[in-house]
Amino acid sequence: MKILVTGGTGYIGSHTCVELIKNKHEVVIVDNLYNSSIAVLDRIEMISGVKPKFYQVDILDREALEAVFKDNKFDACIHFAGYKAVGESCEIPLTYYKNNISGSINLYELMRKYHVDNLVFSSSATVYGDDFEVPFKEEYGLGTTTNPYGSTKKMNEMILTDLAKADKDFSTVLLRYFNPIGAHESGLIGEVPNGIPNNLVPYIAQTASGQRDFLRVWGNDYDTVDGTGVRDYIHVVDLAKAHVLAIEYAYKNKGSEVINIGTGKGYSVLEVLHAYEKACGHEIPYKIMDRRPGDIATCYADTEKASKLLGFKAEYDINKMCEDSYRFTSLNPDGIK
Ligand code: NAD
Ligand code: UFG
Repeated sequence: MKILVTGGTGYIGSHTCVELIKNKHEVVIVDNLYNSSIAVLDRIEMISGVKPKFYQVDILDREALEAVFKDNKFDACIHFAGYKAVGESCEIPLTYYKNNISGSINLYELMRKYHVDNLVFSSSATVYGDDFEVPFKEEYGLGTTTNPYGSTKKMNEMILTDLAKADKDFSTVLLRYFNPIGAHESGLIGEVPNGIPNNLVPYIAQTASGQRDFLRVWGNDYDTVDGTGVRDYIHVVDLAKAHVLAIEYAYKNKGSEVINIGTGKGYSVLEVLHAYEKACGHEIPYKIMDRRPGDIATCYADTEKASKLLGFKAEYDINKMCEDSYRFTSLNPDGIK
């Protein structure tokens, strides 16, 4: 297939491009480089042997985006482009709604106009909110989101589900990611956090390499194995492989499907910290703090639907996730240049 990948130079997008190329798909990337570097294209080429065609285009710029559709006959699209910082989304909600909703609608309208019928969308476990019991199952539907970022994911899910109902040619798979971490094992691509990391593993990585003094553990009084929060961490390469299966599924089946992508197993903050200590070979300092507002105690996926529909099963364990994260951070202390 010839596949448009929006946000393809970003963290999950770049890993997905590598896996798509490995599976003989042709990749065309659209990204405005707001949160990624043009050098990612060379890194993708170093790993896969192919440098994807690239357009530096903002999906909010409808004319520029349409020019990409005029230039290329796509079979499918994987849509990663968007803003993703939960805290920031509470400070500048309109910016988040504009980028993640208006930008997405531009893309969906052009997909309909140019008869690009198959889409995979990056949703998130955040759409379950704290309304349900773990493991989270797709059939629970949409919970109450607690921040504008989460609401943009929920709204995109609603828009795409409605679109698939109205337009019988259109097919979409909405992937609800749990917590993607790790990096490609080459150490060439990985997550480059913008400013002070908000997420656990990027923060641990910077503490392990001495850029931060200690990890702040947000609460140790949850009803979990050791009192710290439990999440379903998934290796980004496993997640990337799930996208290949999902876009191939969308191509063969009409309608819309929501599918969790996780491992089905939860790890506490301290368990992740200790796995990282093993990977980097030294202790990592931490301090227990109060709970972080908005956090839930435990979040992990029911993975049966991914297994049944896509034949997907995550392969890599928490140790490999930490080893690959550490290798990438050590080799790229200043990001991807
Ligand atoms: P990322 O920031 O690394 O990648 C997103 C890419 O989109 C960046 O390269 C950025 O420059 C680009 N972009 C943003 N706005 C754009 C616009 N208007 N036009 C063109 N390009 C634009 O993020 P990621 O971690 O790779 O996440 C990819 C997608 O997955 C996002 O939609 C995110 O919300 C979603 N997601 C991420 C996580 C996570 O923990 N990383 C979890 C659940 C869902
Ligand atoms: N945590 C710490 N210290 C830190 C950072 C995090 O103790 O410095 C803890 C949190 O309290 C939580 C766990 O580590 O218990 C994971 O926190 P993250 O911020 O890494 O991830 P979240 O589960 O809060 O959220 C992430 C993404 C969301 C996405 C969600 C589900 O940030 O965008 O996973 O996919 F919606």
